[in-house]
Amino acid sequence: MSDPMSDLSSKDVADLSEDEARAELERLAAAIAAADIAYHQNDAPEITDAEYDALKRRNDAIEEAFPELVRTDTPTGKVGAAPAEGFAKVRHGVPMLSLAKAYTDEDVTDFIERGHRFFQRDEGLALAFTAEPKIDGLSASLRYENGVFVQGATRGDGTVGEDITANLRTIKDIPERLAGSGWPEVIEIRGEVYMTYAEFQALKERSAAIGGQDYVNPRNTAAGSLRQKDPSITASRNLKFFAYAWGFTSADPAPTQFEAVQKFAEWGFKISPLMVRATSAEELIAHYKTIEAQRSSLGYDIDGVVYKVDQLELQRRWGFVTGEPRWAIAHKFPAERATTVVRGIDIQVGRTGTLAPVARLDPVSVGGVTVVNVTLHNEDYIKGFDSKGDPIRDGKDIRIGDTVVIQRAGDVIPQIVDVLIEKRPPEALPYEMRDTCPVCGSPAVREVNEKTGKADSRRRCTGELSCPAQAVESLKHFVSRGALDIEGLGAENIELFFSKGLLGTAADIFTLRDRRPAVQQALAERREEQARAREAASGKTRKNVRSVEDRNYEGLDKLFAAIDARREPELDRFIFALGIRHIGETTAAALARNFGTIEEVIRVGKETAAAADPMAAFPSIDGIGGTVVEALVDFFGNERNDAVLDALLLQVKPQPYVVTISADSQIAGKTVVFTGSLEKMTRSEAKAMAERLGAKVAGSVSAKTDILVAGPGAGSKLKSAAALGVEVISEDEWFERVGK
Ligand code: IVH
Repeated sequence: MSDPMSDLSSKDVADLSEDEARAELERLAAAIAAADIAYHQNDAPEITDAEYDALKRRNDAIEEAFPELVRTDTPTGKVGAAPAEGFAKVRHGVPMLSLAKAYTDEDVTDFIERGHRFFQRDEGLALAFTAEPKIDGLSASLRYENGVFVQGATRGDGTVGEDITANLRTIKDIPERLAGSGWPEVIEIRGEVYMTYAEFQALKERSAAIGGQDYVNPRNTAAGSLRQKDPSITASRNLKFFAYAWGFTSADPAPTQFEAVQKFAEWGFKISPLMVRATSAEELIAHYKTIEAQRSSLGYDIDGVVYKVDQLELQRRWGFVTGEPRWAIAHKFPAERATTVVRGIDIQVGRTGTLAPVARLDPVSVGGVTVVNVTLHNEDYIKGFDSKGDPIRDGKDIRIGDTVVIQRAGDVIPQIVDVLIEKRPPEALPYEMRDTCPVCGSPAVREVNEKTGKADSRRRCTGELSCPAQAVESLKHFVSRGALDIEGLGAENIELFFSKGLLGTAADIFTLRDRRPAVQQALAERREEQARAREAASGKTRKNVRSVEDRNYEGLDKLFAAIDARREPELDRFIFALGIRHIGETTAAALARNFGTIEEVIRVGKETAAAADPMAAFPSIDGIGGTVVEALVDFFGNERNDAVLDALLLQVKPQPYVVTISADSQIAGKTVVFTGSLEKMTRSEAKAMAERLGAKVAGSVSAKTDILVAGPGAGSKLKSAAALGVEVISEDEWFERVGK
């Protein structure tokens, strides 16, 4: 049987038709880009230098023969993948504008009146407006050609943005192909990329669990997530998108703004459910109030309401001033702020030893929520500088005794936005961050990042597990959901048992049963205390209290049973539970898959720690870079951890990682291609897994391909597969099929 793809790739340039040349340039651009990423970003070349050169030469020859077909993302002359400093530039078909602002009802009335004045020549004209939330995220422009998403860009300076197509493809609200029909041949759909509070909180928790970075607010985090070099990181952030406008289009989507946006919904986009059509300032302001009332329950940030002229014909007639349409305006919500006093600055010590300063405030209500603490992030932040050394709060520092302005950024995380220097008590001194751990007294240092040469923004206590704060936090992590997940042994019980000396390290959890009387005693005492506190609060006394002992027996048996049930944990959970810095669930799973047993993980870990050049000694695993290797070196190079681990392994037997092949495995003997961003495994793991199951893994789709496993962002390979009738399955379906 002939293979159209490989036929084309071996056809002489002189014999190519224009369509074939276009297809070849597309294939070559993708192949060269993939090779660049493998070589420059992953340090794992997938083709030989000679093969790479041949691709480049063919690309150059076709470009020379068909200069009009040169792609905007031509690989010619590009050195390596998109340069580390940034993304390729994209010129918007139509500039991305900003909006004039209204702060008061009067500003809104003025806007409507200006409209009526402008159109007054038109008697009987029914000037209408739309009103919808102003989402506080990042705007993006998505180019669709013949219903297919071809390029996505940031706003940039409004004229030229950055090409973040691969990252945008990971967003589930952005369709790869438009649904329905009737879309213009070319249209730039515009809208807002944002992060929900729930997703933001989850990310913060995941990061805190591995001693990772701190995230300030959903908007900045969404921005950072969109600028990732590795789209699988963007994918893991679960960003969302609302479509609300468009740029260049080969035809109006509809005669009105309102209908156009409804069309977007038909084409598969999410649109704001809070968009209405109205004709008077009163109606618009009423809708503004409706939206404002729902603001805190939406689950994502909005910072106002946007009014737009509904009829596109009238939008065109009213036109633009520099950088802004005359026919639209953003009615902003007042910032939710309040003033209070900083009474103290406490230092919290996290599981990995990070020292996090927290300001204790006189309780103050901001937008309906009482705020008593705000995080101060790190010592530079307290001094008035961000991580780049640029001033924040006009460079004003924060001192105990200061009167400060609190704002609930995005309605979730309160922060100090200003310091009222005129109210500063004369005796208030600049805050001095301590250089020892407040819990164990060990030195607390700002580690220097070897790559950037910059000191970490946060200090870390060097006491490791001898620091009670780190020890207890490590124990909490060990039993947490993604780790050993021991039922009935939550953070509260861990704290209690730790404070009573019943637990020191993770191994002690498994011998807790030996200390049953003391455990029972500790639980009983706490119950007593709690009951007394409740009585004191309610003023009532207790009647007929069952004996504390009776009540505890049953619970204790359950607890010990739950502990026993976890003596043979899955390897990935166990690795995650160890709480090695920078090793989250995904990295733990990658290590488990690659090394198979805990013995092997330890052997490689120790060998790497002992090596002169650890980076070179550590096997190359996709998705595992210098930060993780350094963390492994720190962990396995530390003798104290040896003892902890040895004791633990006397109690638990982590299960070897096995890929079970289902009896009817349809994988063996098949040719498989992986494309798009895989979320549960790295590309090299996918390859290794497929090969273990007896499959052949190919780099491109051809008629010989049996299965294409496509993750989000799959592009040309998906098209080829469709054209060739190759079976396409998702990553989840892949796992179902391989029986893992
Ligand atoms: S319309 C020509 N609608 O606000 C009109 N913008 O200040 C272009 N934004 O850059 C924008 N929600 O990032 C529009 N419902 C909405 C919006 C919205 C948020 C942002 C957008 C834009 C900025 C303009």
